[in-house]
Amino acid sequence: MIWMASFPKHILETQQFKEGKLIENLFSLASEMELFDTPLCKLSDEQIDRSEKLVLPCKPRTRVLANLFYEPSTRTRFSFSSAMKSLGGDTIETESAGHFSSAAKGETLPDTIRITSGYADVIVLRHPKEGAAKQAARYSSVPIINAGDGTGQHPTQALLDLYTIKKELGRIDDLKIAMVGDLKQGRTVHSLAYLLAHRDKMKMYFVSPEQLKMRQDIIQYFNEKHIDFEELADMKDIARVVDVLYMTRIQKERFGDNAEYEKVKDAYVLDERVLDLMPLDSIVMHPLPRVNEISPSIDGDRRAAYFRQAINGKYVRMALLKMLLDPPAEYI
Ligand code: NCD
Repeated sequence: MIWMASFPKHILETQQFKEGKLIENLFSLASEMELFDTPLCKLSDEQIDRSEKLVLPCKPRTRVLANLFYEPSTRTRFSFSSAMKSLGGDTIETESAGHFSSAAKGETLPDTIRITSGYADVIVLRHPKEGAAKQAARYSSVPIINAGDGTGQHPTQALLDLYTIKKELGRIDDLKIAMVGDLKQGRTVHSLAYLLAHRDKMKMYFVSPEQLKMRQDIIQYFNEKHIDFEELADMKDIARVVDVLYMTRIQKERFGDNAEYEKVKDAYVLDERVLDLMPLDSIVMHPLPRVNEISPSIDGDRRAAYFRQAINGKYVRMALLKMLLDPPAEYI
């Protein structure tokens, strides 16, 4: 297998995407994936030639992606499956791996990874323990993609978030972004914050209840990189100035004490009253699933970008899989 000098072997955390060129290449490939994800009969001969270069080769057998999920998922698991199938590859799957894989019999993660990497060309791992993907990478003979490790990171979500910002706003620098909700336990905001820390002219607002403030490692990273940020409690204070309002779910399953969850569960609800304050050319994002934090009554507003965001996940994941398994010559 050929590894590009600059493209990481494993996708574990967004600090791996410091290079502007990496992001640029990945997003350009994702746009191509999007363009060619069209029924064959609708493509011109020229487009068919190009799209054939983009699918993964299926000789002597097609490439296989293993979805190894120890926590629930809809978007991440389906979009990886759909991405691999659109590339001409195949998938093997286990949802609720804690119950349905040999983990239920006491098998350790390193052993499960050793075995799975013998059956697959890439492993997509979601696990409740922070650091699980890094641990898996040490035992895997094939690339590991971190699809969420507890309260740690979810790097492919952050990449699709940034791709969405680029598609929606036409730029990924010079932005005012507010992250709202469970900034302590929400892994998507951890990954996105690390990724945004490498963009130019960023202004970040971390909006959360006192007990769910952004993790210290990220605050420290922002301080070291001299990124302009503020921590605050009320999203109405910044709704008028943001380009992106990134809402998150309060992570109920991560609270040791349900009474603590009850205290903060409805801390933020984005409805017309808040949306009305926001600029007309701003967007609302959410990794989904949502609970109460975005009122369905705003779904029809064109600033509501969260369903478009979820669709973009497929194309960024196609691009990532292509780069990991069979990078097109011009992207190396
Ligand atoms: C997120 C996750 O699993 O971290 N969902 C996703 O992958 N789109 C967000 C969440 O569960 O709140």
